[in-house]
Amino acid sequence: MGRASDIERAAEVLRAGGLVALPTETVYGLGANAEDPAAVARIFQVKGRPPSHPLIVHIAAAEHLDDWVESVPATARLLAAHFWPGPLTLVLRRGHRVPLEATGGLETVAVRVPDHPVALALLSAFGGGVTAPSANRFGSVSPTTAVHVRTELGHAVDFVLDGGACEVGVESTIVDVTGEIPSILRPGGVTREELEAVLGRSIAVPSASRVRVPGQHPSHYAPRARVVLVEPEKVVAEAELAQGLGHKVGVFLPASFADPAVKAHAVVSVPDSISAYAHGLYGFLRELDQQGCDLIIASLPPEEGLGLAIANRLRRAAGPRPSR
Ligand code: TXA
Ligand code: MG
Repeated sequence: MGRASDIERAAEVLRAGGLVALPTETVYGLGANAEDPAAVARIFQVKGRPPSHPLIVHIAAAEHLDDWVESVPATARLLAAHFWPGPLTLVLRRGHRVPLEATGGLETVAVRVPDHPVALALLSAFGGGVTAPSANRFGSVSPTTAVHVRTELGHAVDFVLDGGACEVGVESTIVDVTGEIPSILRPGGVTREELEAVLGRSIAVPSASRVRVPGQHPSHYAPRARVVLVEPEKVVAEAELAQGLGHKVGVFLPASFADPAVKAHAVVSVPDSISAYAHGLYGFLRELDQQGCDLIIASLPPEEGLGLAIANRLRRAAGPRPSR
């Protein structure tokens, strides 16, 4: 994984204005040279993503942050020092190097340093910023392996760097540090509790159903199958009811309700450990799609630690969908 020749080739592709899928600790990204508006435009085209949805600029180290933003407030400096490299994205005032194409026209920019040796090697070899959304089609489940990327995007991407399965499994936590008080725009790999411990204060999280951040539609992170959320103790009964009505039901079976005899089309045993659950989440959703399920019955984990990010993604997967 991540052989030196692959890294060099991927850096060449970026310099030539091409698209490179790269592994990060969260999910795979679809990367382009952040300073090349034409390459950035191709990302939107390949993903089928509306151009108003801002992207994250990935950089090699916290010391480069000043090159990409107008100024770095003390809170941002503190969070970067603690969590980079890592699954934390900071939203700051846009620096002039960042084209408006990458920010969806916003005067702010999202920046992070990913914690993955292959991503960091690529960023160093390339020498600039790499703007990268998750490497999936707009609205669907984020890829956590190189195989997912190829299945999802095929030849639309010029080069796929294989860095194995993503460790964290859910996207980065996005924190807006443009105002006096930092706030979480999207829960993710760095937990609210970890942020609060470093900041020494509580931090606001928007309720999942009301997020107004551009690029965060109610329906997102969604498999083909419809997702229905129920109370944990009702998962088995609801699944069997729907299966009896003729659905091909996939079940997210909470470990504490493990009933291997549940009558459903396919069953995923939700891991007991919340980090193992986050790591596996998108793979489970893909797996149930692959098995031909048309309905997925799941429940929400407790919304603390990584459970907050998992619950956010499940709610969005279950959200109202545009026809597609
Ligand atoms: O873990 C991750 O963050 C992954 C890996 C590849 O780094 N990337 C990722 O990118 O999840 P994407 O494009 O799927 O989601 C980025 C989200 C956008 O949907 C948008 O809501 C938010 O970041 N965002 C980006 N720039 C922003 C800005 N200037 N203000 C507010 N939100 C912003
Ligand atoms: Mg995404």
